[in-house]
Amino acid sequence: MQKPRLSTFDQLIVQADQALRMLASSSPEPARQSPAGKMEERELSDHEKQHAAGLMRVNHAGEICAQALYQGQALTAKLPEVGQKMSEAAAEEIDHLAWCEERINQLDGRTSLLNPVWYAASFGIGAMAGLISDKLSLGFVAATEDQVCQHLQQHLDRLPENDHKSRAVVEQMLTDERRHADSALAAGGYPFPEPVKKLMTLVSNAMTATSYRI
Ligand SMILES: [Fe+2]
Ligand SMILES: [Fe+2]
Repeated sequence: MQKPRLSTFDQLIVQADQALRMLASSSPEPARQSPAGKMEERELSDHEKQHAAGLMRVNHAGEICAQALYQGQALTAKLPEVGQKMSEAAAEEIDHLAWCEERINQLDGRTSLLNPVWYAASFGIGAMAGLISDKLSLGFVAATEDQVCQHLQQHLDRLPENDHKSRAVVEQMLTDERRHADSALAAGGYPFPEPVKKLMTLVSNAMTATSYRI
């Protein structure tokens, strides 16, 4: 028998349940093992550990945003195949979320206290973009993933040389995010103009500076 289609209200309940579980407990099981999994820990000073944990906390907060954004977009996507693509992408981001959280724990750090705020804001933006059009929604994914790539690249420059475990995680994430950006454009995403991208850079710089500390 065919499953009945969920109403928008029912879908919202499902999304709220997912959000609460993600924010309240530790990350879901990743499909791929962490690239840092089998690497030996090298010696890091207390300051280096604290700094690396701060950067990985920023990356973890970014993955919380990615989850929320994709879930918001999947909820309001017009074409079922676009909704499906968003759900698949969200599933891929779970690996990143889990790898970052594992590394933060190894560095004796903690995840951002502002994650619920980031989640709610990103979910709202994603849902709104999906309501406007699939082309805009996919374009927003591409532009956001570009921002994430810029931050990950900067983190590779800023992470302690000896922290090769965090570096391995960030390098794999960078590869994956570049692919996400390319596939969103290939699926018909609208390429955002430079001034809009510049504004997004300002917003994401403010978010990363806050997540590094809080
Ligand atoms: Fe990611
Ligand atoms: Fe991504």
